[in-house]
Order: sequence, then C-alpha cells, then structure tokens
Amino acid sequence: MITLEHVSKSYEGGTGYSVRDVSLEVPAGQLLVLLGGSGCGKTTTLKMINRLIEPSAGRIRVKGRDVREMDPVVLRRGIGYVFQGIGLFPHLTIAENIAVVPRLLRWTAERITARIDELLSLVRLSPAEYRGRYPRQLSGGQQQRVGFARALAAAPQIMLLDEPFGALDPVTRDELRDDFLRIRRELGLTAVMVTHDMTEALLSADLLAVMNVGELRQVGTPRELLRRPADEFVAQLMATPRRQAERVEALSAEPGP
Ligand SMILES: Nc1ncnc2c1ncn2[C@@H]1O[C@H](COP(=O)(O)OP(=O)(O)OP(=O)(O)O)[C@@H](O)[C@H]1O
Ligand SMILES: [Mg+2]
Repeated sequence: MITLEHVSKSYEGGTGYSVRDVSLEVPAGQLLVLLGGSGCGKTTTLKMINRLIEPSAGRIRVKGRDVREMDPVVLRRGIGYVFQGIGLFPHLTIAENIAVVPRLLRWTAERITARIDELLSLVRLSPAEYRGRYPRQLSGGQQQRVGFARALAAAPQIMLLDEPFGALDPVTRDELRDDFLRIRRELGLTAVMVTHDMTEALLSADLLAVMNVGELRQVGTPRELLRRPADEFVAQLMATPRRQAERVEALSAEPGP
C-alpha cells in the first residue's frame, strides 16, 4: 500500500541527513508504528509520504503509484493526516475544522453537515454539543478527537498520525488509542503512526519500525523485535517496558509503608 525505496532527505546547509536510505513497506490494512528518539527523522518520513516534504533521493509509492507523479493535492485527499501537536484552526469552529477538506472537494452543504455529525459520533463527541464550539472551548483530549475526525473527513484509506496521543494523561490516552484502533479496524485503514511510547507501540502495531539518527534499524512485528532485536539499540528500546514494569513491581514489593 505504501512503499519507501531508499528514501533520503538532506537539507541544504543542514548537517548530514534527516532521513537516510530508508526502505520499508506497509501492507494494506496494517498499522506500522514508527519509533525513535527526538530528531531521528520520524516526522520527516511521514511528511514525505504525503509530499509535505519532498525526498532528496529514493522513491515513494502509494497504492503502486510513484507519489512524484501525482498531484500533491489529490494525493493528500486520499491520506488523512493527524499533526504532531493538535493543529486545529483556532478561529474555526469544530464543524468548520472538520469541513475543511470536504469544502475543498465542493461537497454540498447537506452532505458536509451529515458527515460532520457522523464523524463526531464516531469519535464519541456529541454533535449537538460540540459542532459549534471553538477549539479553545475543548479539552486537549477532545481536541485530539476532533483532529482524528478532521483527518477522516474525506474517507481516506490511509492515515498518517504524528504522535496523536501526545500531551494526554495516561487514562485519556488509553481510551483514545483504543478508539483509534477500533475505528482503524472498522474502516480497514492502512496507517503509519509515530509514537515515543514503547508500550503503546508494542500494543498497537502490526509492524514496528525503529529509527535512530535518520536511519532505519529494524522493521518487523512486535514479537520479532522483542525476540530477535537486530542490534543493541533495538534491544535496549524493546527492553524498556519490561524494565519499567519490573521497577514498579519491585517498588510495591519493598517492605515498609
Ligand atoms: N527544514 C529543515 N531544515 C534543516 N533541518 C531540518 C529541517 N526540518 C527538520 N530538520 C532536521 O531533521 C531531523 C529530523 O527531524 P524530524 O522532525 O523528522 O524529527 P522527529 O523524529 O519527528 O523528532 P521529534 O520526535 O522531536 O518530533 C532533525 O535533526 C531536524 O532538526
Ligand atoms: Mg516529530
């Protein structure tokens, strides 16, 4: 569904590569989670898929087509994008935020209204209560739900999500992630999601891709990476959830109050 072949990105005047010689494939209907430290090239990789950033080298295909041969606007209509941070337009209501792409597509007013209500229900926000509000009148988690709804507006088959659950408390985060995973399954979406959270990655991904300073270290199922990490970096990363769980366990087992 999405294929990267030897893709690199370097910036003029930049020191070296943001992304270097990355090749990977996301089969239809699967969720690939992109993991790695800050600045390792995750956002750059996502944005090259929908041409918000043009690669310096290599080829990207979406549904078999080289993205360079596609009109970027047409390409992006078929790919929902959830931004790092929340990225709602502050001066537009929730309904208007969701309607941005449908309006560009010149849908009728009735169709747009119906779609807004359908999407708000899908992300479990009451349409009557929320459609007329502004982003500042919503909590962070509610805004992230609207971000999902907006990305889904034109019924894309592909979603790119850049730390979609960042800046949420752990309970809201779990809830929103479960909702997303349910929606993804129901709609059969192919998705690439960036996260810093190892546990989240292990529990969500069909495929995990680990990056380190611009390079791809390993791609595989969570089980493959847990059992056969390609190098020490991947091994360390995969060990973090277990290490943390052990520390928590040890803490509760200590004698005393
Ligand atoms: N326009 C630019 N010009 C030069 N360098 C850039 C530009 N945009 C990004 N970079 C560099 O490319 C590298 C990768 O950036 P990217 O945003 O992809 O990282 P990331 O993995 O998403 O990090 P984070 O987890 O902090 O969001 C960084 O070192 C960044 O400074
Ligand atoms: Mg980023």
